Amino acid sequence: RVIPVILCGGAGTRLWPLSRKNFPKPFLKLGAESLIAQTVRRAAAVVKAVGSEDILLVSNESYQFLLQDECTPVLNSEGGNIALHQLLEPQGRNTAPAIALAALWAQTKYPNEDPVLLVLPADHLINPVPTFVQVAQNAVAAARKGWLTCFGIAPTAPETGFGYIQQGAPVDELNGAFAVQRFVEKPKLELAMEYLASGQYVWNGGMFALRTGDVLQALTQNEPAVALQAQTVWAGAKETKNAKSTGSAFAFNKDEFAKLPDISIDYAVMEKASNVAVVAASFQWSDIGSWAALSEQFSADSKGNSLQQEGTGQLISIDSSNTHVRLGNRAVAMLGVENLLIVDTPDALLVADKSRHQDVKKVVETLKAQG
Ligand code: GDD
Ligand code: MG
Repeated sequence: RVIPVILCGGAGTRLWPLSRKNFPKPFLKLGAESLIAQTVRRAAAVVKAVGSEDILLVSNESYQFLLQDECTPVLNSEGGNIALHQLLEPQGRNTAPAIALAALWAQTKYPNEDPVLLVLPADHLINPVPTFVQVAQNAVAAARKGWLTCFGIAPTAPETGFGYIQQGAPVDELNGAFAVQRFVEKPKLELAMEYLASGQYVWNGGMFALRTGDVLQALTQNEPAVALQAQTVWAGAKETKNAKSTGSAFAFNKDEFAKLPDISIDYAVMEKASNVAVVAASFQWSDIGSWAALSEQFSADSKGNSLQQEGTGQLISIDSSNTHVRLGNRAVAMLGVENLLIVDTPDALLVADKSRHQDVKKVVETLKAQG
């Protein structure tokens, strides 16, 4: 049994002012659908391919109905009677606790099956779906043999926001899985450059195939505080009314939840465990982690300007180049400028040098510091 677990967590601060508390990145519409709708569609394709029946969403409790409204129509259109379940977090405690709780949910629901969790971030752009389904099935096959399995992405730049995976010997020739020699989460730039130049490393795609028992055991071994506190939190879980959805929904005790250590699965398990494997992700992938990555999704005109039209506003462009503009409902004029990011929203405007896209998070930090 395979259960896609969609992690819909924090607000990506590098897409300010688009990605904020009330409009987190998963709800960003790229192409015909939001990123979360596309993720559910991909998850449904896997569920249908392997013949299972559940999808689990793990998110903040405040997104419960927003997520249902976004995901239910997708599942209806996909058919196949897939149940959408939800774990509702009172606060974000990062991916290791979220995955631990997902594993405990799956164990409780299917006590004799040791299901494989297919962990998927809610905010990635992936195409085409059939290739994704094939790679996911390869990862699941490796997970069934006891491997904590990552998806390896061919790296294109010394990005410091990713995990780096050094590939070792093949472990499952049939399904193209390799043992992971070394996993380094978010290395410093110098190291990232070294890894890239060596040709031996791939990026961690942030998706995982994990047998429930294996990931809980790996947490118990490497980060026991997460495993222990997750048990306590799960023991106090309450099933809540879930009027609009076919699946179950669980809420948690706030105080116990707050005691979960704030740590990602990458640091908690992937860097430490010895049974980590990687499969090659041969699909197009972007984590839309910055305005640069987002702007690449829009085609540029002959002057290198790209337009992200999300309202009724009009763009007036005179003697300007290499600039990405996100339009809302207002007119925006640019005159004699170059290499800018211009992001207009009803209550906040970003004007930034394009090369400073990684620093947009500083804007958010400054805003927070000013209250
Ligand atoms: N439910 C829930 N609760 N989801 C969470 C939480 C949480 O507390 N924290 C993060 N998430 C979700 C995010 O919304 C995202 O979908 C996913 O988990 C990964 O978290 P990020 O915060 O985006 O991680 P990252 O981008 O810094 O790093 C991870 O992804 C990279 C690829 O995009 C790592 O796995 C890296 O190794 C990897 O390269
Ligand atoms: Mg991310």
